[in-house]
Amino acid sequence: MARCAIAVVAALLVLLGGGGNAAARIRVEYSGMVIRRPSSSIPSFREAPAFRNGEECAGGGGRVDVAMTLDANYLRGTMAGVLSILQHTACPESVSFHFLAAGMDADLAAAVRATFPYLDLRVYRFDPSRVRGRISRSIRHALDQPLNYARIYLADTLPPDVRRVIYLDSDVVVVDDIRALASVDLGGHVVGAPEYCHANFTNYFTDAFWSDPELNGTFAGRRPCYFNTGVMVMDVGKWRAGGYTRRVERWMEVQKQTRIYHLGSLPPFLLVLAGDIQAVDHRWNQHGLGGDNVKGRCRGLHPGPISLLHWSGKGKPWIRLDARRPCAVDYLWAPYDLFRPSSPVLEE
Ligand SMILES: *[C@@H]1O[C@H](CO)[C@@H](O)[C@H](O)[C@H]1NC(C)=O
Ligand SMILES: *[C@@H]1O[C@H](CO)[C@@H](O)[C@H](O)[C@H]1NC(C)=O
Repeated sequence: MARCAIAVVAALLVLLGGGGNAAARIRVEYSGMVIRRPSSSIPSFREAPAFRNGEECAGGGGRVDVAMTLDANYLRGTMAGVLSILQHTACPESVSFHFLAAGMDADLAAAVRATFPYLDLRVYRFDPSRVRGRISRSIRHALDQPLNYARIYLADTLPPDVRRVIYLDSDVVVVDDIRALASVDLGGHVVGAPEYCHANFTNYFTDAFWSDPELNGTFAGRRPCYFNTGVMVMDVGKWRAGGYTRRVERWMEVQKQTRIYHLGSLPPFLLVLAGDIQAVDHRWNQHGLGGDNVKGRCRGLHPGPISLLHWSGKGKPWIRLDARRPCAVDYLWAPYDLFRPSSPVLEE
């Protein structure tokens, strides 16, 4: 009988759904359940199975804290990323997720909770006004979203019991046990990430930067190498103690005065940390799978073992798959996709 009533409500909601935005946020309460039609911009997802700790996790091998952002446009990527972590770790119940959301937090959080009912997760509101005045336009508009800068404020946002956090972009899938990344020796550094010392560092900064004697000495005494801020292990305590948030912010303020770099949140990180991070095995960031920043052309895999795939760059696998123009690497992402295209509102 309950089922029947829910079906009727479902039908009603589907009908109302055609009516546009007014119906989009309708809430129906039925025998203590809150059935909520997600706002129209939030896609619908299948529920992930419950993942349980293996025997080797007994005795508390330690919690792993993972931070990601929550954004309606990248939600499908976030869901896939979370699923991939749970699927490949021996201790899925020991992974805590920390999500930073800028707006529509309640709907986004509800979507994650519905998709992963067993997940240990917390959602924090990231106030975009904190960073808005400091953002200058980059060569790719998507890079200018305030939430892209939330990683700078992780240490201020996370509760004090989080000592170390893995920050991940929303366009990654992890195909190895995340505990291996979480336990890397940071060697006293505040951040660990794969380093790419063959990349020509000159090109990330403008001539105005390299020719200004007050700025161009910044890297003196360091051997600066490119690293990607989409996958980072961060010592949260050291970050706070060293005032790194403020140090990164200062470079963003310089950028507002004089254009010293081309991209968004990456260069201020490089200015503060390049040459002073713990190099992590390259297997933890097969980056660039989204193609270049301008056209998003297909890219192949770099040689070597892979623990994490990262669709950085313009193209995103869910968009290319939906458009039926996927790159070969996108088929590696597809198995983690929890998106439910027909979006049935209610389901037993
Ligand atoms: C790096 O790029 C700059 C500017 O494009 C160029 O002048 C320099 O020779 C390059 N360095 C290397 C090592 O390729
Ligand atoms: C910094 O700028 C000054 C003035 O343009 C120049 O003489 C110097 O070689 C630059 N130093 C570096 C490290 O680029």
